[in-house]
Amino acid sequence: MCGIFAYLNYNVPRSRKHILDTLVKGLQRLEYRGYDSAGVAVDGGNDKNWDNNSKVIQLIKKRGKVKALQDEIYKQDSLDFDIEFETHVGIAHTRWATHGEPNAVNSHPQRSDKNNEFVVIHNGIITNYKDLKKFLESKGYEFESETDTETIPKLLKYMYDNRESDEISLSTLVERVTQQLEGAFALVFKSVHFPGQVVGTRRGGPLLIGVQSKHKLSTDHIPVLYRCGKEKKAVSTLPRVDGDTCLYPIGEETGVEYYFASDASAIIEHTNRVIFLEDDDVAAVVDGRLSIHRIKRTAGDDPARAIQTLQMELQQIMKGSYSSFMQKEIFEQPESVVNTMRGRVNFDDFTGTVLLGGLKDHIREIRRCRRLIVIGCGTSYHAGVATRQILEELTELPVMVELSSDFLDRNTPVFRDDVCFFISQSGETADTLMALHYCKERGALTVGVTNTVGSSISRETDCGIHINAGPEVGVASTKAYTSQFVALVMFSLMMCDDRLSMQKRRQEIISALRTLPDLIKEVLALDDQINSLAHELYQQRSLLVMGRGFNYATCMEGALKIKEITYMHSEGILAGELKHGPLALVDKLMPVIMIIMKDPTHTKCQNALQQVVARKGRPILICEKNDDESKLLAYRTIELPHTVDCLQGVLTVIPLQLLSYHLAVLRGFDVDFPRNLAKSVTVE
Ligand code: AGP
Repeated sequence: MCGIFAYLNYNVPRSRKHILDTLVKGLQRLEYRGYDSAGVAVDGGNDKNWDNNSKVIQLIKKRGKVKALQDEIYKQDSLDFDIEFETHVGIAHTRWATHGEPNAVNSHPQRSDKNNEFVVIHNGIITNYKDLKKFLESKGYEFESETDTETIPKLLKYMYDNRESDEISLSTLVERVTQQLEGAFALVFKSVHFPGQVVGTRRGGPLLIGVQSKHKLSTDHIPVLYRCGKEKKAVSTLPRVDGDTCLYPIGEETGVEYYFASDASAIIEHTNRVIFLEDDDVAAVVDGRLSIHRIKRTAGDDPARAIQTLQMELQQIMKGSYSSFMQKEIFEQPESVVNTMRGRVNFDDFTGTVLLGGLKDHIREIRRCRRLIVIGCGTSYHAGVATRQILEELTELPVMVELSSDFLDRNTPVFRDDVCFFISQSGETADTLMALHYCKERGALTVGVTNTVGSSISRETDCGIHINAGPEVGVASTKAYTSQFVALVMFSLMMCDDRLSMQKRRQEIISALRTLPDLIKEVLALDDQINSLAHELYQQRSLLVMGRGFNYATCMEGALKIKEITYMHSEGILAGELKHGPLALVDKLMPVIMIIMKDPTHTKCQNALQQVVARKGRPILICEKNDDESKLLAYRTIELPHTVDCLQGVLTVIPLQLLSYHLAVLRGFDVDFPRNLAKSVTVE
């Protein structure tokens, strides 16, 4: 989805080229999120006195890739790229079209008027934009794009044109504008009337600020300032409660750089010191000082925003020697599952303790609950399906696994004694976030299972598990899935650690967790074999993936991987449903991948295999090494090592991840940027 990046250098001289290159690099780091156009706004004058240059804003926008924008930038004859700015604000955006087709006019920054007095970049959707547009048109404002976003800078200009005093600040204007907006957003503003200043705010979309100064930061938190008084109408005339906080020692050299971004991956190469904004925070940098304001104080508000240290490393978001992020992330799985378990599973302890720090204060309450509801979208939903059986077995609770959108459409009854899990790699998926709000309103205990520290879901849930898989850049989720899977298995183990009758089963699973990374390596070693299978299959139109029990989720997840990056039709089929419809699809031309592992469903899966063979189908088996009986009927086999039943799904999904990757490469598609898809789906 859309990406926000802004860069402010205060008392740090930077050439225009440096500034533009920084903006472009920031956008490149956000490319993985999915987008179809991009744009930047920078100060446009070429005067030796940088101060004069901020009186003109230059917008450069382009449909297509960031590379196309970069080429467009360097075609601008009107810009002197060598000119230096002591202080400057640049804003940049990648847009994923929702309102209006991808073209330069619809891309961001959007502007208030032909003179670019106010410009904004926006992630999210403004749901009441039609009413706002009607109002602004009635006041004589002319619109040029089809976007919802354009109402925002125009409303800002309206507020500015009708200001009661010249003393008004950009942050006050922004506060007023956001009070009129409905929907979800993260916004960053720049204006010719407020040179060298930037304002960012959010409601429902992530926004963080990186700080870089050659001085040691003088504080590790920013106090949040509130307006006094009850009347929202009059907020701007009321005094501040407190003064601003300076992040660096005041002296002669007060240079500081700020990076605003919707995603930490755009910031990490500049600084690891970041502040995550909360909904309705308005963050402003004026004269190099950052302050955060809120319109009103609400119960439970945190009085300060901590300056946190990002744990992410730059190399984690680089491809290294791999040809794509997806390939790299598939091959990272032996380490990523270890990171999910690190410090949580005690393999040395005879009793095999599992301790998830984020849940320990709530585990008694969870044990007493009426049922568990596991909610997510796409791959994250599949992680819930994959672990439902072991959750039911070890918790002895009813477990519902729900697709976020469907859960909301049904107005599913949720009660105070339910425990609701929200599974999300990004922690920002709009439908899952809305399902979280829905469950919170009904008093259920909410548990986040996310890969993104500081994400909306990890902050808004009562407690949770960070899966610690490391940044996942490829749109097709791979290592996050296996880590979500392992995290949910660990949760089920923690739930029954006091149950004597379950100790044997627990031990079996814990020892399988210990060997899991090595077994994953064994499966990854089959890559060449899977590549040659891909050479046989890549011209097919359709692929069926069939299995049952602990491997049903693998079928759905494998089929999702195939369709999202190869654009082939693919279906995950529960083998028990074969005779109820899908068997009609089977003939000698249709490739059928069947997952048959040695567990209690083995005989039933073999029956399904017989039926496929009887219809002249040519089954491609994913099975255990020693399953000679099944292999006899197979057209091709991929042989996997044995593990405990409830963890088989971690191993069986990997050949399908690899297969989808090779199929996509052979079909000539961009593995990391599949058409029409975004990494983080922040709109409904
Ligand atoms: C999977 O490969 C997808 N790209 C997609 O299904 C994804 O899992 C889904 O959009 C949910 O995202 P989340 O985990 O970030 O919430």
